[in-house]
This record gives sequence, structure tokens and C-alpha cells, in this order.
Amino acid sequence: MNILCIGDIVGKPGRAALDGLLEDIKKEHKIDMTIVNAENAAGGSGITSRIAKHFFDIGCDVLTLGDHVWDQKEVENYLNEEAFIIRPANFPDGAPGKGWCIKTTTSGVKVGVVNLLGRVFMRHYVNCPFRALEAIAEEIGRQTPVIIVDMHAEATSEKVALGHFMDGRVSAVFGTHTHIQTADEKILPKQTAYITDLGMTGPHDSVIGQNKENIVQRFLTSLPVRFSVAQDDVRLHGAVIDVDETTGRARSITRLQKAFTAREKILSVQEK
Ligand SMILES: [Fe+2]
Ligand SMILES: [Fe+2]
Repeated sequence: MNILCIGDIVGKPGRAALDGLLEDIKKEHKIDMTIVNAENAAGGSGITSRIAKHFFDIGCDVLTLGDHVWDQKEVENYLNEEAFIIRPANFPDGAPGKGWCIKTTTSGVKVGVVNLLGRVFMRHYVNCPFRALEAIAEEIGRQTPVIIVDMHAEATSEKVALGHFMDGRVSAVFGTHTHIQTADEKILPKQTAYITDLGMTGPHDSVIGQNKENIVQRFLTSLPVRFSVAQDDVRLHGAVIDVDETTGRARSITRLQKAFTAREKILSVQEK
């Protein structure tokens, strides 16, 4: 089976690109399941229930999040209600929502999806992602061998280590959060697909999606500046992972980069 994984959707440009490109990508790669990191979908910070519902309407199967999960207060109830939007599983007990789910494809294959947050250079105090994933993978494994992991983290080392730690125990580990696609996609020795970061779906003429002038100014002066989502050079980044659904082993992982040029569509997308 082919699983499409899409890197962080940033603001209106990212959402417009997903709207405009998803259907064709799914056809071209014969996609059975689509997993999208949506943590920056609402104006660059978090996601709203309206945006999430729209993503499901256009053909996303599972939405994952990250450190921006709590940026839109409104979404907390929705995280409890909707089965296929997940936030990092290693948040302390009591956080709204859940950290993993199992979605069945139209052809009847169950796919477990887990979202985790790294601890290196990240602002949240969360439980160990390694031990959290170990326990969750065992639980999902009772229902299906196909397990896909979104490790939302800053440090490449933490993501690489998690991939090796779970090699042969999950189908794929992909990284998100840095918004920069890495060129290290591979099948690990025990047939887990791995990539350190899927990249970003959003404006690439930017500093990781934000207006470049503002961010450069902040580095120069260390003064607080208002962030705003950039607009230009919009691209969709992600990967397609081919998994043997009977064993859960990955066969291949292919990086994806698509330009989105329909500028009028970006302007017509609602703010949140
Ligand atoms: Fe993030
Ligand atoms: Fe992000």
C-alpha cells in the first residue's frame, strides 16, 4: 500500500497548495492513506476545527500536530471529539485529545498513526518519546502491523535515534517541525522507512514559512517582531511510503516536492 505523508501545512499558502495539489498526487502515486502534519495551518500557528474539517473533506485521512497544538484554544474540544486528528502522544496525562489512532482504508487495511514531540531544543516538557512510542506500538501491533510515526522534533539526532530504536517495530518514522526537507530518506536494516524531515507545505521564499525580513530583523536586533506568514514560492513537501500491509515492512520511501503556482487560489482561502 502507498501512504502519503505531507510536511507541516503553513497558513493560507500551505492550505491552498494542499487544496490544489492533493487530488492529483493521490492519483499519480495510487495513494491508500494520507497523513498530514497540520500544526501551522491556522495563520502559521495551530489549527482550528473548521480547517481540520476542510482537510478531511478534501481527502486527508489523519491529521498530526506538534508544538503549536495549543495555539488555537478553540480546537481543544475538537481534539477530544474527532478520532483522526492527533496531538503528540507524550504530552503529560490530562492534555486534551489523544496521541495515536487507527484508521481503516477503503480497501480494509488498518493503519496505526502515532504523533510524538521531541525533547531536544523544544519548549514543552513532555514524557520520553522513545518509551511512549514503544508502548503505543505494542498496543497498535495487536490490531495491525502497519504503524506510521510522525516525530515532531528539532534535533536531527533525536529523530535519527528514534528511527533506529524502532527499526523493525514500526513501518515508518518521518520527522516534521524543522520545515526543511532532508535528503536522507532510506529503508533501515529491519525495513522501517525513515526520513528526518518531510519539509514544509507553504511559502518557501521565507524563513521556515514566516516573512523573511521580520525574522532577519529579529536575529539582528534580538527585539520582538510580529510574525507573519510569507506568500511566495509555495510548495508542497512530503514523501510516499510503500508498505507491505501483511507484514508492516516498508518497501520504499520517495521524497515529494511540488510547486503550487495558482496565486489567486491562495488569496481566496479564509484566514482561519
Ligand atoms: Fe513545530
Ligand atoms: Fe511546523
